[in-house]
This record gives sequence, C-alpha cells and structure tokens, in this order.
Amino acid sequence: MTLGLNLDRVAHCYQSELQLFAERHPRSAGFYRENLKHWLYGAPLHWMQQWPGLYPILVADAQGATLTDCDGNRYVDFALGDTGAMFGHGQPAVAEAIAHQARHGSTLMLPTADSLWVGQELVRRFGLPFWQVTTSATDANRFVLRLCRMITGREKVLVFNCNYHGSVDESQVEFDADGQMIPREGVHANGLRHDATTRLVEFNDLPALEAALAHGDVAAVLTEPFMTNVGMVPPAAGFHDGLRELTQRFDVPLIIDETHTISCGPAGYSGEHGLQPDFFVLGKCIAGGIPTAVWGASQAMAERIWQVLPHFQPGQAINHFGFGGTLAGNALQMAAMRATFSEVMSAANYAHMIALAERLRAGVQALIAKHRLPWHVTRIGARVEYLFMDHAPRNGGEAHHARHGLIEAYLHLYLLNRGVLLTPFHNMALLCPAATTDDVDLHNRLLDECLGTVTQGETP
Ligand SMILES: Cc1ncc(COP(=O)(O)O)c(C=O)c1O
Repeated sequence: MTLGLNLDRVAHCYQSELQLFAERHPRSAGFYRENLKHWLYGAPLHWMQQWPGLYPILVADAQGATLTDCDGNRYVDFALGDTGAMFGHGQPAVAEAIAHQARHGSTLMLPTADSLWVGQELVRRFGLPFWQVTTSATDANRFVLRLCRMITGREKVLVFNCNYHGSVDESQVEFDADGQMIPREGVHANGLRHDATTRLVEFNDLPALEAALAHGDVAAVLTEPFMTNVGMVPPAAGFHDGLRELTQRFDVPLIIDETHTISCGPAGYSGEHGLQPDFFVLGKCIAGGIPTAVWGASQAMAERIWQVLPHFQPGQAINHFGFGGTLAGNALQMAAMRATFSEVMSAANYAHMIALAERLRAGVQALIAKHRLPWHVTRIGARVEYLFMDHAPRNGGEAHHARHGLIEAYLHLYLLNRGVLLTPFHNMALLCPAATTDDVDLHNRLLDECLGTVTQGETP
C-alpha cells in the first residue's frame, strides 16, 4: 500500500479508464489527430494537452457550472478554466457587457467611462489607491517586479519554494535535495543566472526569510498569501505578521499575488485577513475570460514610482516606461471588469460558492476517514484541494513530495469519464455561483466509488 492505495491496482484500473476514455471520446480523438498537424502540442496551448486521458476533450459548449464536449458528454466543471472562469461560464451580465462593448470599439489606447468606475471599484474593494491593467497575471507580476527593481535599485526577487506566479523568469526555481536553488524541473534557465536574480526560501520559514533579506539585495518579495499551486500550503500562525515586519524592516516591497486566493472572498485573502501589501496582483477571473489582470500600489510605492517615472508632460520625449501592453486597459477589459465586479463578484455569490465548497470539503474529509487514507483536504473560500499527506504541508517542498502522478491521473480520469472535471494540474475543485448541491454530491459519490475500487481487493 502506498499513500493508502494498492498501487498495482491503481495502475490496472487506470488502464481500464484510458480504454473507457477512448470509447467515450471518439470525435475528440479525431479533432486531436487533426490538431496535431498544426499546433505544436496538438492544442493552441500545450497545457490543454495535460488533462487526464489520451487527448484533450473538444468543448462544444459551456454554461454556468457545466461543460459539454463534441461527443455529447456533459460534465460538472470544477476546474473552471483553472480559475479563469471561477464565476462560471457564460455569465449573462458579463457576456452582454462584452458583446455591447465589442460593437462600440474593443481596443482604443484611450480610456472609456468604464475605466472611471473600475478604478474607483478597485480602490474601494482592495484598499490600495493606484492601479494599472495588464493582459495576464504573469505580466502584472513581471511589471511590478521590474518597478520594484527600479525604485529600490536592487536586483533580486525573493520567492518561496514551489511558488507559481506565471512564467516569471526569476521565479522558475526550486530547491534540490541538498537545499540548493536550481532551475525548476523541466524549465530551462534560458541563460538566466538565477543566483543573480533570485533568492529562494521555504514558505513559513521566517528565520530563513530574515537571513535572505539581510543581504540587502532583494528588490521585492513576491508571494501568494496562501500557497495554492503545489497543493495548498496555509500560512502558519504569525507568518503574515512576520513577513510584513521583516519586509518593512529591510525596506523591501511586499507583493501579494491574489490570482488564486481571490476565491477567499470579494476582496481576496488580504481583504479577509487584513493584510497590507505594498503591491497587490489579481488576474484570471476578473473579466469573464477577456485576458485581464490588475496590479495596485500603495501611496508610498506610487510616490517612489513617480520619482523614477514621473507623470508625462506634453512635449516630452515619449517613454514606454518598460511596461505596458498595446491591449492592456482596453475598453473590452473595462466593460468586462465592470460587469464582473458589479454583477458577479458579490458577497451573495461568494456565500453560495463557499457553502458548496464546504459541503465538498466535508464530503471528502468523510471519505478520507471512511477509506482510511493518510490524506487531508483543505478549503480556502470557494477552492478545495485534497493532498496525499495526512496533514497540511508546512511549505512547498513538503507539499511537492506528497504529489503522486499515477494516483492523480487515475482519480482525475475516473471522475472525467463519469462527468466531473477537476483542475488538471492538481486535485483542486472550484465552486462557481451556478454550481448546485447535486453537483457537489455527484463529485463526492464518484470519489467514494473510485476510492473503493483501489483501496480494496487484489489486482485482477
Ligand atoms: C498565483 C498565480 N499568479 C499568477 C498566475 C499566472 O496567471 P496567467 O497564466 O493568467 O498569467 C497564476 C497562474 O496559475 C497563479 O496561480
């Protein structure tokens, strides 16, 4: 038995699930064969190929919490575009706002009236006084890091082991078995010398953080408030107070990336727990699928930015400031964000999503006990994740070691074959406003069946 399961049996059952997948998805197979002829990895983004099964299912329609594929299979979608569609597919108010603005100019390199509303809303909701828009959370993180280097004159970025903040070069590192920082497995360093760009520390390790900041060369600390990309790693008691105290003591800007933790509530984890970052980053779900992210800066940070990059004066030489984006801040993003913030990211919707997430968490907790698995389940707001270790990890390294490719692949595929989608890169379920108790109960029933198949008996 490994991690509570008979692995031979898991491997055997997984083969049967692959066969079932092929039987249930013949049209997707045909599309995939065609797509392989022109897409580098058989899909417009290679991540789409990393779902469980033999190839990506081709989507015919998505509405609310439901997705239908080209073979007519219907799914309850708990992946929700890996948070990009956290408020559900085809939200009518957002779809309408996008369609309306598309008829009146999508991208103009000029502000529209919606920008006024959205700017005020960002300040009201998240507390920071100054904001900018980008086309992805990756870009928002990159730009804020660039600015932090400009205002501090320092070079290095401090990130936590097993972080994910998008394909931000400096962050693509991890600890090896000897605790040395190396390029992340499978990601080429691309000529970057990480020892010149990055300091790496385990999450929740305040003494290591203090030692790293004491070098005096760190331009910014970039972190999620609650790690979500390697399984979920909660901040230990006192961690956020310590993080804030140390970053202030060493005069290092603190960037809180809430791209995933916005699942916690209408103002994210920071709003729920009173965090006071210098910069705040948020992306993915805030514009109904129109590629959009925002970053906010405190008054003190804005003033430091204006010292190195002053407001433009007419007649000055044009300066692109080293960050931006032709499509960033455009009219379509603004219309979509306005509709999302005003109609969708409401306290009432969060209450519904969180209640369902709690039902799912409690169900999984009961199954872990029933099947005597050394696993645990964590929930932050509308996001639930189960991990193959019996307690919440203290840091990314611990969480990383609890992953198991075969078990994950089998669980995901079993669920997918029966109409439930989990987020492909880990055992994560998101609950959207359109989800129902029946949807949650379907997940919990299927997981029970699936675990029953591999916790008992010999390999046939
Ligand atoms: C915390 C966090 N930040 C940033 C990103 C990057 O988002 P995007 O791929 O939309 O740029 C991700 C993506 O998963 C994320 O989880």
